[in-house]
Amino acid sequence: MLSIALLGAGRIGQIHGRAIALSPRARLAAIADPFADNARSLSHETGAPVMDADAVFADPAIDAVLIATPTDTHADYIDRAASQGKAILCEKPVDMSAARIAATLERVAKAAVPLMVGFNRRFDPNFAVLRRRIGEGVVGDVELVTILSRDPAPPPVSYIERSGGLFRDMMIHDFDMARFLLGEEIVELQAMGSALVDPAIGAAGDVDTAVVTLKTASGKICQISNSRRATYGYDQRIEVHGSKGMLSAGNVHETTVRFAGISGVTADPVQNFFLERYAAAYRAEVEAFIDAVETGTAPSPSGFDGLKAQELADAATEACFSGRPVRL
Ligand SMILES: NC(=O)c1ccc[n+]([C@@H]2O[C@H](COP(=O)([O-])OP(=O)(O)OC[C@H]3O[C@@H](n4cnc5c(N)ncnc54)[C@H](O)[C@@H]3O)[C@@H](O)[C@H]2O)c1
Repeated sequence: MLSIALLGAGRIGQIHGRAIALSPRARLAAIADPFADNARSLSHETGAPVMDADAVFADPAIDAVLIATPTDTHADYIDRAASQGKAILCEKPVDMSAARIAATLERVAKAAVPLMVGFNRRFDPNFAVLRRRIGEGVVGDVELVTILSRDPAPPPVSYIERSGGLFRDMMIHDFDMARFLLGEEIVELQAMGSALVDPAIGAAGDVDTAVVTLKTASGKICQISNSRRATYGYDQRIEVHGSKGMLSAGNVHETTVRFAGISGVTADPVQNFFLERYAAAYRAEVEAFIDAVETGTAPSPSGFDGLKAQELADAATEACFSGRPVRL
């Protein structure tokens, strides 16, 4: 039974805390969050004690920490956990600075503790099968990957201003998915973006509509399409085209009920919220972390995956605002 403490019990922390508490192979050993209401509500639901973060790190009975705090605290908490020999599952991104991520990873490697980064989409049941089929050779040689990832509505501009921009805040998940599906590193990218959804996002120096094209050393190409608005819900689709055919994963709808009539066929809306759309993925992610720690295998996605996604986000930001391709 792995004893895992949760650091940060906000939006995503509540989801992770419940997944740990429900796992038959783990114990939610503690919840640390200075915002007492969040910590208390999860404690009430799961029976796990509320603890100070210092007490979590000092407690030798705690094997691992799940870091779901604001991004600017991640690197410090990773360092503290590593120095106490605790396994780490850290929400994405590890940090906004790729240089700081690289330095943090060096210390984690020296401490020889497992570190997994929360790119939950790899654990989505549909995308996980898509990846497995690529590995089985179903589409032959992968040539073109298309990732469509659109949020139902933009967050408040106050959030955008602190987010690091669309490429680091939103497309980072798609950069990780691109690497996951292509199985090769990206060597070149091009980016284009506009503020079409809300001019205030443009005024804040960001874009809300963007396309990035990625190329690997062997010439495989991936196109990512992001929008901060989709009138029909949370739009999450992937297509993988190769020498033997094409694999695709479509949207998940609120129900499977369809209406067929004289003017066509209609379906219920696409699920609208990431916490709902990726509920199964978040649970599977925590189980994969427990697996890795229990079996002593390297966790995946790794800290290196976190670094590569951040480098791609930085490069896409540069390409978008300079109008020039970026080589990596
Ligand atoms: N993988 C995903 O799908 C996904 C989705 C949402 C958020 N995230 C990431 O998760 C992190 C948290 O995002 P969120 O939306 O849950 O934020 P949030 O603001 O809802 O929650 C953060 C919580 O951390 C607490 N906190 C702040 N400082 C702390 C500290 N020093 N120690 C312990 N707790 C502290 C806050 O009180 C709050 O309860 C961010 O890094 C974000 O990028 C990932």
